[in-house]
Amino acid sequence: MSVLPVVTYDDPVLRNPAGPVEPDHPDLQTFIDDMFDTMYEANGVGLAAPQVGVSLALFVVDADAITEEEEEESFGPGVFINPEIKTISQQKWDAEEGCLSLPEIREKVNRPETIRIRYYDRDFQPREEVHDGWYARVLQHEYDHLKGVLFIDYLGAFRKRLIRKKLEEIRTGSVKADYRLAPKPEGFNQGR
Ligand code: NI
Repeated sequence: MSVLPVVTYDDPVLRNPAGPVEPDHPDLQTFIDDMFDTMYEANGVGLAAPQVGVSLALFVVDADAITEEEEEESFGPGVFINPEIKTISQQKWDAEEGCLSLPEIREKVNRPETIRIRYYDRDFQPREEVHDGWYARVLQHEYDHLKGVLFIDYLGAFRKRLIRKKLEEIRTGSVKADYRLAPKPEGFNQGR
């Protein structure tokens, strides 16, 4: 088991739609364990494979820290392979989100309250569940990563302008995180 470096928002892998995971994918279980190690090390509640530079439709979640705090139902660690999410309520709500690929940025995002998710678990058993509240929010955030979408994409022009400087700092590698970020490519201007 090992902690993997997390790629930041300007890495193209975060913008590519992730490809499906095959049941016989080599070392899949080890990769999933590494994803959990990486997520817990960074105190994250979710981590999608593209965030560690792997363009596969797979994410891990453990949102108990949030759901317990919010007095909602807790589901423990979960592995979601080749997921599909359908919105089943028109009701939306705002809450502040962050992302391990966007260190130091937290912004309000408007998301549907209730969703249905179909996926395969880590034993490749098909599952279907309905979730709402914070857990549904985390699932939607991670699912977006598999589609090449980041939570900052939902911000209006005004909020986008306010975070522009912070994004530039992430891009030039001058933002530090208390977890391991993927190094910028060789010869990249490191900023200040
Ligand atoms: Ni994220």
